[in-house]
Amino acid sequence: TEHTLVLVKPDGVARGLTGQILARIEAKGYELVDLKKFTPGRELLEAHYAEHEGKPFYEPLVAFMMSGDVVAAKVSGHRVIEGFRSLAGTTDPTTAAPGTIRGDLGRDWDLKVQQNLVHGSDSSESAERELALWFG
Ligand code: GTP
Ligand code: MG
Repeated sequence: TEHTLVLVKPDGVARGLTGQILARIEAKGYELVDLKKFTPGRELLEAHYAEHEGKPFYEPLVAFMMSGDVVAAKVSGHRVIEGFRSLAGTTDPTTAAPGTIRGDLGRDWDLKVQQNLVHGSDSSESAERELALWFG
């Protein structure tokens, strides 16, 4: 069975939405295999977001992700990578479809970085790489 990395980002944790977000994942039928809550350091975030290095939102993104606790989840299920991306909605929370996590619970607050509540791995290669980073 497939695994993915889900992060409830600092905006989601600070707003008290962790339970609702994890409940949607479970309600769709996926399993929460492992969970941890902590404030990630720069080294972990630079490795996690290596593909975005050099983009204008990269530094604000890393700074935002270091700004407070995140909840990292290892989630499993058949086609969970695609399934969670669909549940999360598109990247910009202001226009993400209603019915999705980002569309129902999120909006933009800052031009420099989209605070969009969650991260989900975007391919099986990313999932394997990211799960190794966040869960060893
Ligand atoms: P993740 O699940 O967090 O990886 O989101 P994603 O796959 O929908 O987006 P992507 O990997 O392209 O970008 C990672 C994060 O960078 C996003 O979740 C946003 O927080 C931020 N980001 C991406 N693109 C933009 C952009 O064009 N402008 C701004 N301000 N932030 C962006
Ligand atoms: Mg991404």
